[in-house]
Amino acid sequence: MLANLRNLSRLALPRRLASQSYSSSSFLIDQPEYSFLKELGLERENPGVYSGHWQGRGPSVTSYDPGTGQAIATVRQGTVQELEQTIGLAVDAYKQWRKVPAPVRGEIVRQIGDELRKYKEPLGKLVSLEVGKIYSEGQGEVQEFIDICDYAVGLSRIYSGQLINSERADHSILEAWRPLGLVGVISAYNFPNAVFGWNAAIALTTGNSVLWKGAPSTPLVSVATTKIVADVLQRNNLPPVVTLCQGGTDVGQYLVSDKRVNLVSFTGSCQTGRDVGVEVQKRFGKVILELGGNNALIIDESANVKMALEAALFGCIGTSGQRCTTTRRIIVHEKLHDQFVQALVSKYKQLIPKIGHQLEAQTLLGPVHTQQNVENYKKAIEEAKSLGGTVAFGGKVIQRDGFYVEPTVVTGLPHDASVVHRETFAPIVYILKAKNVEQAIEWNNEVEQGLSSAIFTENIGQAFKWIGSSGSDCGIVNINTTTNGAEIGGAFGGEKATGGGRESGSDAWKQYCKRATITVNHSGELACAQGVVFNVE
Ligand code: UN1
Repeated sequence: MLANLRNLSRLALPRRLASQSYSSSSFLIDQPEYSFLKELGLERENPGVYSGHWQGRGPSVTSYDPGTGQAIATVRQGTVQELEQTIGLAVDAYKQWRKVPAPVRGEIVRQIGDELRKYKEPLGKLVSLEVGKIYSEGQGEVQEFIDICDYAVGLSRIYSGQLINSERADHSILEAWRPLGLVGVISAYNFPNAVFGWNAAIALTTGNSVLWKGAPSTPLVSVATTKIVADVLQRNNLPPVVTLCQGGTDVGQYLVSDKRVNLVSFTGSCQTGRDVGVEVQKRFGKVILELGGNNALIIDESANVKMALEAALFGCIGTSGQRCTTTRRIIVHEKLHDQFVQALVSKYKQLIPKIGHQLEAQTLLGPVHTQQNVENYKKAIEEAKSLGGTVAFGGKVIQRDGFYVEPTVVTGLPHDASVVHRETFAPIVYILKAKNVEQAIEWNNEVEQGLSSAIFTENIGQAFKWIGSSGSDCGIVNINTTTNGAEIGGAFGGEKATGGGRESGSDAWKQYCKRATITVNHSGELACAQGVVFNVE
């Protein structure tokens, strides 16, 4: 099979790994096929800090195409000192922005959405190129940002507080939602555009300013996206209510610990997220944590297996297994288990001709993001084998330029094996055989993380058990659809080690606000609540 996969290498490019150095002429941005990068205003060297103007005095990082290992362009990151200054400017911008009426703020977000529509094609292509995700997923990611802008425009006219009945005569209690101030967004490489978008659109609409630090390995998406937003702000003579500081760990740590950053919205690993949560709590800041998932797809005895197979394919292999919502475990009813494994393996076989460079039209499985992902993949496969698992499909690294691994199905492991309980950002799925839905739910819930989950069932009783209080303990609890690919309209996030945060739709906007409870006495006399009498006459 490996030979088959090798032959699929359609790009006859020399093997180039991230550690190699490049002559300036070898940057993809200089090649005519990559002119879309210039359409986005990118150059061979780009400043990575925006605070009303562009700068960057920190180390320069090279961004690579994971599909070939070739250098795309470079970004000069910010220093801690530049971050410090940027925070000051973003706080000043907030003080002006909070005075702008919410529907007018919504109008600015509408313009951002329109601008993203104009640049969807090249920006989505850049997302694909820099992350390694396929063309339609890159486009889909920008679409998520556009969708949340539309959502935020509506929100700007309808988000509201309430009037609460007072126990005292001629008193009224109002509840109002105020902006928090400066919202720091630290995003991960796998969704370098949409996750910033969910946070920024809602934070801006509710009157906050935003400071973004994108992942160090996807700096070009950060710069190109910020350019699009900054153009809208400048055109409207607004201060820099969106700022950017690309940087390494030092910049991230400073952002997390600075008191002026009122809310830190962090997407990344459970391990780092725990540290971020503790740091922010130490200074009584607010935090939204979107951490790892270990998402299960349950196939009940009554399931529509054809549909479940399609869900498993996208769930396990989409984005090369690098979504936090990727299906990592499939828990199948014992009566269907063997048949399901066989059918899934034959679907995986059909996918082989569709492994390739992320920007090629027919590709469904592109590379993983870095060599580190390849190493983690290898480690997981070795561990799975050593624990008695059977590799029913795949299991090997693909020898070609870039970072490619075979989509992999592992069977026969205990439901609580260490490797099954660990999130590996790669296209590996563990198939488990369960006696019934009760057992499947128990296994679904026994992992540390609690992000996404799905059941395939045609049995209404099982479906309601699944969504009930004794059902899935995740933030996303789907029926007859995939674990991944949530829409922006719902609140996105999960429980337990996933961090508890919610972003995007529903009432997630409340997390970007502080709540004021306002008691108004319009009686002309002072009266204490709870019937307390307290005067000296
Ligand atoms: C992530 O992987 O961090 O539900 C976000 C999904 C996407 C977002 C994933 N809408 O898969």
